Amino acid sequence: MPAQAVIGLQWGDEGKGKIVDLISDHADMVVRYQGGQNAGHTVVVKGEKRVFHLLPSGILQDKKCLLGNGMVIDPVGLWEEANSIKGVTLDQVAERVMISDRAQMIFPYHKKRDVSELSKKIGTTGRGIGPCYVDKVKRTGLLMQELRHLDILIKRVRELCATEGCDTETTSEYLKTLAVCGPWLADRLVNGAYEINQAYDAGQTLILEGAQGTWLDIDHGTYPFVTSSNTTIGGACTGSGLPASKVDHVLGIVKAYTTRVGEGVLPTELRDQTGEYLRKRGNEFGATTGRPRRVGWLDLVVVKQAAIINGADELAVMKLDVLDELDEIQVAVAYEFDGKQTDIFPSDTHVLDQSKPVYRTFTGWKANTIGLQKYEELPVKAQEYLQFMESFTGVKVRFISTGPGREETIER
Ligand code: GDP
Ligand code: IMO
Ligand code: MG
Repeated sequence: MPAQAVIGLQWGDEGKGKIVDLISDHADMVVRYQGGQNAGHTVVVKGEKRVFHLLPSGILQDKKCLLGNGMVIDPVGLWEEANSIKGVTLDQVAERVMISDRAQMIFPYHKKRDVSELSKKIGTTGRGIGPCYVDKVKRTGLLMQELRHLDILIKRVRELCATEGCDTETTSEYLKTLAVCGPWLADRLVNGAYEINQAYDAGQTLILEGAQGTWLDIDHGTYPFVTSSNTTIGGACTGSGLPASKVDHVLGIVKAYTTRVGEGVLPTELRDQTGEYLRKRGNEFGATTGRPRRVGWLDLVVVKQAAIINGADELAVMKLDVLDELDEIQVAVAYEFDGKQTDIFPSDTHVLDQSKPVYRTFTGWKANTIGLQKYEELPVKAQEYLQFMESFTGVKVRFISTGPGREETIER
């Protein structure tokens, strides 16, 4: 697979980081194409956990990593992350990482703006993502390439921080670090679109690592409770410069149930003991903000529509083991609105708000699947659950994840 996009089909936190780390073993380059430090991608290797916010999850596998033009990057945040990966030195990061000189920069004033009433209503991560994309679209943003003119940039950011009422002392500290890391970051800048196409044309294998999930997409998601970028397949192209004709495969990542952080609809939400149980067993607390994730049953109406929007060729079903002990498992297979049923996820927010999920009940397998590596070892009822996902969505399940570790995976 020369170029493969890995995209979340729910509301984020599906387990993209684990799969990207796993499959980047066979890849030459891993590319992030949108979002910023709102992402939290967890990789567990030999029991040790690492969470990536800006760096692609392929970095542990010693792969070339590109931060694409569609990203919004806090340069100091990137520097701090580059300095803090256990087992990977800064020199190793320097060898592996390339940064598009057209990515947007996030500064303290973006974060300051991201604590507004609107941010609170949406429940944003407070990382300055929305405000930075606003500046991009307003055409007042600062591109990473300004790091090549560090003195001018620092002066400009100081002015902007003052204009926007940022704390003077904090700004000074921030700019001191920017002065230190600016040259290191500038040395990593590349023409991202050129690099990715060169790599593809040379026959290299590429992974496009999505952040967030389909239903947080600014165009297709549950607006206005979304992030500010295109998390879906189109964003992979605009955010990297790789044309659509070169994206050879799309792997959709699906959690075996549903979670969401922040506000907005979650039709299958469990506000009861089962929800509490799944949150605890699945350790559903945000990798970026530590917030408890809202939990619900698997919603195949959501997954099927997301698979269509992204053109998913195959699925990876994550966290199957979390369902091991349940007596019964529910799956949403349609929505009811105004006495009528549909299996299409409503695009009208008002209709969606008033729709009720229609469930199909599965008997739980009540057996341990943790760490299983072979499909045949899965309990028959778990296999039936997966087969139903395939037949409902029309997309083959390629990976089944049975634990956070790299090796706790079934590949078919
Ligand atoms: P991402 O944002 O899509 O990369 O997902 P996160 O890293 O935010 O959240 C997924 C969480 O589930 C992480 O803590 C992973 O270590 C964990 N995880 C991934 N796959 C599995 C699995 O199959 N079983 C269990 N129990 N945990 C998993
Ligand atoms: P990964 O890549 C889950 C959510 C926030 C909020 C909304 C807008 O780890 O799957 P933002 O700060 O982007 O303006 O917040 O989007 N959100 C995520 N939820 N996983 C993520 O990333 C998310 N990134 C943003 O909680 O509801
Ligand atoms: Mg996450």
